Amino acid sequence: MDFNTDRFINDLNWRYATKMFDSTKKLAQKDWLVLEESLRLSPSSYGLQPWKFLVVQNKDLRAKLKEVSWNQSQVVDCSHYVVFTTLKKVTKENVDEFIADIAKQRGATVESLQGYRNAIIGDIVEGPRSEVAQAWAQRQSYIAMGNLMNAAAQMRIDTCPLEGLDPSAYDKILNLENTEYATVAAVAVGYRHVDDKYKDIKKVRFAKDRVIQFIN
Ligand SMILES: Cc1cc2nc3c(=O)[nH]c(=O)nc-3n(C[C@H](O)[C@H](O)[C@H](O)COP(=O)(O)O)c2cc1C
Repeated sequence: MDFNTDRFINDLNWRYATKMFDSTKKLAQKDWLVLEESLRLSPSSYGLQPWKFLVVQNKDLRAKLKEVSWNQSQVVDCSHYVVFTTLKKVTKENVDEFIADIAKQRGATVESLQGYRNAIIGDIVEGPRSEVAQAWAQRQSYIAMGNLMNAAAQMRIDTCPLEGLDPSAYDKILNLENTEYATVAAVAVGYRHVDDKYKDIKKVRFAKDRVIQFIN
């Protein structure tokens, strides 16, 4: 394996958490549609997809969100601003919607999926893990976040993940308070500004033997 020529490694080294986006550059719709699929096709525990990805393109809302995002300019300057929201708790209705979708898409009966349905309900809806269902759902969303960032990097599209924000203020601004969903984090998507000095600084990662351990 030659890490200097491997395309994916090259993509991972190319990407960086973009601090300054060029607000004049917008994604082509065909590229955005690919990124949407990188979100939609993301895996999740049980396949339950306990998320909604809000693409906030409204300028006034973006300006409001920036104020509660440590004033980070990425919120307003990026091309597409994706807010990751997840279920606050998982209900039987959520599971039933998912089971019905499996039945429909695979041409199976809902009855044949009862074992699977009950296993999910016995765990994350009514079991001990129901107490931590929101944290469970939030963890799933980070997989989608990673997928989005890596897909974008392969397309030479820049991103910045943002946890530097006030999730409850987002919920208010985005009118989520009376819904099943709550904000987790966000990813700004677009193109780096030529003046972003972070694009040229060395990527810092621990050495392989510090973070990868074989247990044979
Ligand atoms: C979940 C998560 C949240 C982050 N939140 C922010 C943020 O709010 N603002 C920011 O500028 N960078 C944020 N970052 C970027 C990290 O600081 C950055 O990924 C890390 O320093 C590694 O650098 P690189 O991504 O440029 O390789 C976040 C990264 C992750 C994974």
